[in-house]
Amino acid sequence: MKTVLIFGAGSIGNHLAYACRNKGWAVTMFDISSQALKRTREEIYPQRYGEWDSNIQLTQSKKDCWKKKYDLVIIGTPPDTHLPVAMEVLQNSPPQIMLIEKPLCPPDLDKCNELLSLAAQTGTRLLVGYNHTLTKHTQKAGLLLKEKKIGKPLYLYAAFREHWEGIFKAHPWLDGPQDSYLGYSSRGGGAGGEHSHALNIWQHFAHLMGMGRIKEVAAMMDMVTFETGAYDRVFQVNVRTEKGLIGHIVQDVITRPPKKMLALQGEDGFLEWYVNYNEGADALRYGHGGTVEELLFPKTRPDDFKGEIDHIEDLLTKQTVESPISIERGLETMLVLAAAHLSHRTKKVIRIDYEAGYSAEALVE
Ligand SMILES: NC(=O)c1ccc[n+]([C@@H]2O[C@H](COP(=O)([O-])OP(=O)(O)OC[C@H]3O[C@@H](n4cnc5c(N)ncnc54)[C@H](O)[C@@H]3O)[C@@H](O)[C@H]2O)c1
Repeated sequence: MKTVLIFGAGSIGNHLAYACRNKGWAVTMFDISSQALKRTREEIYPQRYGEWDSNIQLTQSKKDCWKKKYDLVIIGTPPDTHLPVAMEVLQNSPPQIMLIEKPLCPPDLDKCNELLSLAAQTGTRLLVGYNHTLTKHTQKAGLLLKEKKIGKPLYLYAAFREHWEGIFKAHPWLDGPQDSYLGYSSRGGGAGGEHSHALNIWQHFAHLMGMGRIKEVAAMMDMVTFETGAYDRVFQVNVRTEKGLIGHIVQDVITRPPKKMLALQGEDGFLEWYVNYNEGADALRYGHGGTVEELLFPKTRPDDFKGEIDHIEDLLTKQTVESPISIERGLETMLVLAAAHLSHRTKKVIRIDYEAGYSAEALVE
């Protein structure tokens, strides 16, 4: 039986605990807050999944966490704690695989290179939680694109536009964005950080089409400033890849009902990808040679994480499997997020120099 240690008994911690328990894995959850652990046992888990699972161990003792070596460690804490917690895990009890939630870190990219070298020393494989790259409809989209019926890709658009009222409903102890990382772009919040699934899925489809990494970024954002901080309410970027594919990515925390989609236009056809196309289904629309097919993929919220945990199970047994949630992909997303903030501030197109490593030095004005 695989063993899993989850840092952060909040919203994502519970989603992933449930997905791991469905595999029959032994799950321990650690949180710095006793209230969070109580809420997990008495509210979040039973309300979402019917009843509390007493096989899940809850702990507030870090010492206990280091006593054992886990197969999988999941970091489901706020973005500005991801790297410090991940490095502490690598120093004390490195697992075979560590899944760090998105966004990997704040846009200052501080300590990304240090994380990579520590992981290389310990042999831990690092992943970043962009789960939408592993849902059924994304996998099917990958197979359809292999048919090459839409021809040369000309333009790619991605949007994760969702009012964040849902997040605040799920966290009623927060009075508003100022009460957590969500209200601070510099801590990994704002639309850019919180909905960075759009940046990542754009990059995923560009890779599926063999169009390379994003190398140029031009951004314009709508910032909200308040006494203690600032966040981007609307985040939008124009981008160009190494192989010349251009496109646009928009993320916001104001749109209701939400729109989460991607559209790829090719010379001979198109592919559209939707999350929650209707209540209870993701979807694809695929058009070429005068025909348009609409494919529905019925799902529940737990299914959003099932593909990710199935994939991690594969990685735990077959170490060579390629991964769309690799640390390199998560870092590519972080570089574009960081470039976007710099572009917005300087009103310049920012070039990403991948040879310079994963730090602010890779962003060239
Ligand atoms: N992939 C997805 O679809 C998805 C969905 C939700 C959240 N997330 C991501 O997961 C992360 C957490 O979001 P959330 O909504 O679960 O937040 P949350 O506030 O519900 O939970 C975070 C928990 O981490 C705990 N915590 C804080 N610092 C800690 C530390 N140093 N060690 C251990 N525990 C600590 C807090 O007490 C809290 O219980 C964010 O990066 C968010 O973007 C991803």
